[in-house]
Amino acid sequence: MKSDLHSHLILRLLTLYRKPMGGNGVLYPILGFASCVAFIYMSFGDLKLSSLPKGLSLSFVERNGSHFILDGKPLYVNGWNSYWLMAHSMDENSRGRVSVMLQAGAKMGLTVCRTWAFNDGGYEALQISPGQFDERVFQTVLTRKNTITGIEYRNDPTIFAWELINEPRCMSDPSGDTLQEWIEEMTGFIKSIDKNHLLTIGLEGLYGPKSPKSAVNPGEWASTLGSDFVRNSNITNVDFTSVHIYPDHWFHDLGFEEKQRYVSKWVRSHIEDCDEELKKPVMFTEYGLSNQNKDFQASQREQFYRTILDIIYKSAKKKGSGVGALVWQFLVEGIEEYNDDFGLVPWETPSIHKLTIQQSCRLARIQGLNQQTGNLKQLCS
Ligand SMILES: *[C@@H]1O[C@H](CO)[C@@H](O)[C@H](O)[C@H]1NC(C)=O
Ligand SMILES: *[C@@H]1O[C@H](CO)[C@@H](O)[C@H](O)[C@H]1NC(C)=O
Repeated sequence: MKSDLHSHLILRLLTLYRKPMGGNGVLYPILGFASCVAFIYMSFGDLKLSSLPKGLSLSFVERNGSHFILDGKPLYVNGWNSYWLMAHSMDENSRGRVSVMLQAGAKMGLTVCRTWAFNDGGYEALQISPGQFDERVFQTVLTRKNTITGIEYRNDPTIFAWELINEPRCMSDPSGDTLQEWIEEMTGFIKSIDKNHLLTIGLEGLYGPKSPKSAVNPGEWASTLGSDFVRNSNITNVDFTSVHIYPDHWFHDLGFEEKQRYVSKWVRSHIEDCDEELKKPVMFTEYGLSNQNKDFQASQREQFYRTILDIIYKSAKKKGSGVGALVWQFLVEGIEEYNDDFGLVPWETPSIHKLTIQQSCRLARIQGLNQQTGNLKQLCS
């Protein structure tokens, strides 16, 4: 794997792709939480993202109803977040860590990495100062050519999907109409340029005040933030739905077991929405357990991850809409400055390392992938 390519690939993904903003101040509160996120797709067995052999054509991931499809077969995702890839790809001295992280992910059978595609401060920053954005950075990345492969990003199948915005909220309009219109406009605009890639919003999964599911929310506050999982996700140009899972942020008085029960309910509820109403895949694009809890024990992380991964596996096995999850967040040594209270270096926690591989292998089995070849042979035998 050539780190050069990664740096370019990822570096170029960082330009935020958005229509220039109009004079409407309403977008600012939303953009306070904004990001543009790229999911990079890696196939099993072939760790090389660089120098694709001439003539080898990769397919784009597609959607059929509530499933992802790759080359005519269902695709299930075990993956991770490393939002810091971009920052490191720009620095020659630490560029190598990007390759180390992607290699490490591939070695655990992970196939999708979600990474920030914008810079908040520093080089080519999107947000120059709080609430102030650089219009120049709102320029097209979809038509940008990768300088090594010569492929425009909109035509690049190693990109799994685009995400519009991270955790959109619009508190100034709790009815949800403002955010709904913004998502409709932005998804339409992106699809007018890139019809190859899947598109998701980046929702936390909160239910709005009029949703019959609002009682499932972690608290009453959650329905006042201007977003609604089902309504927003039902927009035609949204290909799959996304949900985040942070029980420590949501509850301050619950014990670990109670949080676990809640997480289980939260995950099942969104799979049910997608199975029964939306008929779209659901990906749990961030899940994390904080080590800052007063009752935190390292073993709880494994239990928490397992609760989520088991539900995904069971859904996938019966061809349900639960198609994958991305842990928040995996790191490699040497980038502690990008850690938060959720991050870990997977090989430093053997139980989590093992669980991660187990999930990759059992999802590969459902997909009918040959476990006697390539990467899977070492991993899953
Ligand atoms: C897509 O879904 C339909 C209906 O469930 C099914 O008949 C068809 O075989 C699926 N196509 C692929 C490529 O999986
Ligand atoms: C989703 O949108 C369709 C029309 O596009 C509508 O018929 C359906 O009721 C909507 N579903 C929900 C759950 O809002």
